[in-house]
Amino acid sequence: MGLLLKVLIPLLGAALALYFYSAPGNFSEGECGRRKSCGSTARGAACAAHRGWKRWQSQSGREGRDREEPQGQRGAAGTGKSRGTRRGTASPEPCASSAEMLRGKRVIVTGASSGIGEQMAYHLARMEAHLLLTARTEARLQKVVERCLELGAASARYISGSMDSPSLPEEVLREAENTWGGLDMLILNHIGQSGFTFFSGDVGHVRKLMETNFVSYVALATAALPLLKESEGSIVVVSSIAGKIAGPFTAPYSATKFALDGFFSSLRQELIIDKVNVSITLCILGYINTESAVRAVSHVIPDTPSPKEECALEIIRAGALRRRELHYPAPAVGSMLLLRSLAPELLESLARSSYRLENVRRT
Ligand SMILES: NC(=O)c1ccc[n+]([C@@H]2O[C@H](COP(=O)([O-])OP(=O)(O)OC[C@H]3O[C@@H](n4cnc5c(N)ncnc54)[C@H](OP(=O)(O)O)[C@@H]3O)[C@@H](O)[C@H]2O)c1
Repeated sequence: MGLLLKVLIPLLGAALALYFYSAPGNFSEGECGRRKSCGSTARGAACAAHRGWKRWQSQSGREGRDREEPQGQRGAAGTGKSRGTRRGTASPEPCASSAEMLRGKRVIVTGASSGIGEQMAYHLARMEAHLLLTARTEARLQKVVERCLELGAASARYISGSMDSPSLPEEVLREAENTWGGLDMLILNHIGQSGFTFFSGDVGHVRKLMETNFVSYVALATAALPLLKESEGSIVVVSSIAGKIAGPFTAPYSATKFALDGFFSSLRQELIIDKVNVSITLCILGYINTESAVRAVSHVIPDTPSPKEECALEIIRAGALRRRELHYPAPAVGSMLLLRSLAPELLESLARSSYRLENVRRT
């Protein structure tokens, strides 16, 4: 019996993994490739969302000025240091469109002053969403907001501050409610700084990183839930392969990402039990070519990172389609997760031997 389970469970895992990783290839215009598994209201919504996304992709390039305005925002002109409003210039970039899926939607993106968050802001701007961006560096946020308005955002504003401050999450949600009267999507993406190195024994750093990378995500989601329940909206949590598989040199960071999986995967189940139609998408990312990631790990990890622009679009897509998890880049992340369930020790040993250990700095 034990042997049977040992063989059957990995086989079942492999079959399921194959099914899910081949699923996007099954998508075709006007028909949802996941239709077979649709049944619940949430799944139905995901299929409708998928059809909408496909329509958006096929309409890419079409200009539309008839965008929807959110409650309390029609024609509002942003004022004050943290505000910006749409100027509605057509974007010359390939993704510019009258996006159906996110056009006029009210979206918060945290950690939007650089990297993947900045790229998500630009994609959402091209899709003509209303944007509220957060990070610490005001000057960077101002530039990103300006660019978003040039790209066609329905409106764009920011709030600057550190997410280790307990009052910021509520302040951000108050701003969304006062400005828009609601919220459709919350994208949790920011991270505090953490070195790629042996654990130094600095417990204070772990505590602070937990506040920034985990507790603030919980606080933002908690404050957003009443608004998201009303709009039947989405929470998108940007995590990492380090939140599924613990490698060396990332102990504090990895701990915060594992915590996100535990919290949000549990919360997702509770929402389903309560028949609350708010989706939670957990994004499991591999190595992406953001400046901070390349600076932190390129001397140790010889791999080629995936492009942040594509990664950002995949995150938005997964959220819009109300997917449970995104694995990006799918082949690398998918095969690592599969190997973890089949042979975890082999995976760990392969990971260790692929690092340039001589370049790891001890602090
Ligand atoms: N790049 C990768 O290889 C990779 C791999 C797996 C997962 N991910 C995940 O993808 C997400 C984005 O990563 P990234 O590489 O794009 O990072 P990034 O370029 O370093 O951006 C991090 C963002 O968070 C903000 N931030 C930093 N400390 C903050 C604080 N205390 N309070 C509020 N905001 C703060 C930063 O702006 P300020 O400094 O202005 O505050 C910045 O906007 C993260 O969740 C990360 O874990 C990335």
